[in-house]
Amino acid sequence: MSTVDETRMTLSIHPSAEQTGEAAASEVAALVQCHPAAVLGLATGSSPLPLYEALAKNEVDLAAVTAFALDEYIGLPPGHPQSYAAVIGHHVVEPLGMTPGRVHVPDGNPRDEHRSGEAYEAAIGAAGGIDLQILGIGSNGHIGFNEPGAAFSSRTRVVRLAERTRQDNARFFAAPEDVPTHAMTQGLATIFEARHLLLIAHGRGKATAIKRALTGPVTEDFPASLLQLHPRTSLFLDSEAASLLES
Ligand code: F6R
Repeated sequence: MSTVDETRMTLSIHPSAEQTGEAAASEVAALVQCHPAAVLGLATGSSPLPLYEALAKNEVDLAAVTAFALDEYIGLPPGHPQSYAAVIGHHVVEPLGMTPGRVHVPDGNPRDEHRSGEAYEAAIGAAGGIDLQILGIGSNGHIGFNEPGAAFSSRTRVVRLAERTRQDNARFFAAPEDVPTHAMTQGLATIFEARHLLLIAHGRGKATAIKRALTGPVTEDFPASLLQLHPRTSLFLDSEAASLLES
């Protein structure tokens, strides 16, 4: 492991996505072993899957953990296999033996989106805040679904997805036009308040975004650059995602 900045960010690079997931899972497991009732933030998408798979093989008991998903598509019918509620259920809650009632996902069909966002923020607060937030990164630098231009002060709300994000995520849907246009996402301020951020990325397609997030200017034009300001961020990368970083 090499340290980019001792006070802020640790960077851990591994030969494969699988090994990256195992290393990241060890960090999550260590937290839960010390704090069985820890509060986790959960990313979906392909990046954290090796982490969740490795954590499922770990002996750690996650039944007392509370969790909050980062985001949810707007407008998918409840139970749609690509809704993040369904993905979290299938890839996280079931294999990890989490308690379903303790795992929260933003409402993708809110009657009142403002109230729904506020209620999600309130639920995170009532749980004592997020101890460890698992993050992926979009190829355009988004975290959660906070697209370029999102305010660092933003809170949980409905956002319009960037076209690049819709194109990137079309692989999960039968047709590109099936990708929802909007999502409810934790805001950048919500994410930043987590006591520990853990970002996992693998593949050459993430290399440019990782380089810009870590070494570019801190700007709302590139939301993941906010990580440079967080007091505790752990980055788990495979060698392809890390390939543009100077050694
Ligand atoms: C998902 C999320 C997104 C993804 C990002 C990368 O909950 O918040 O920020 O982490 O779009 O997606 P993948 O991992 O599919 O490349």
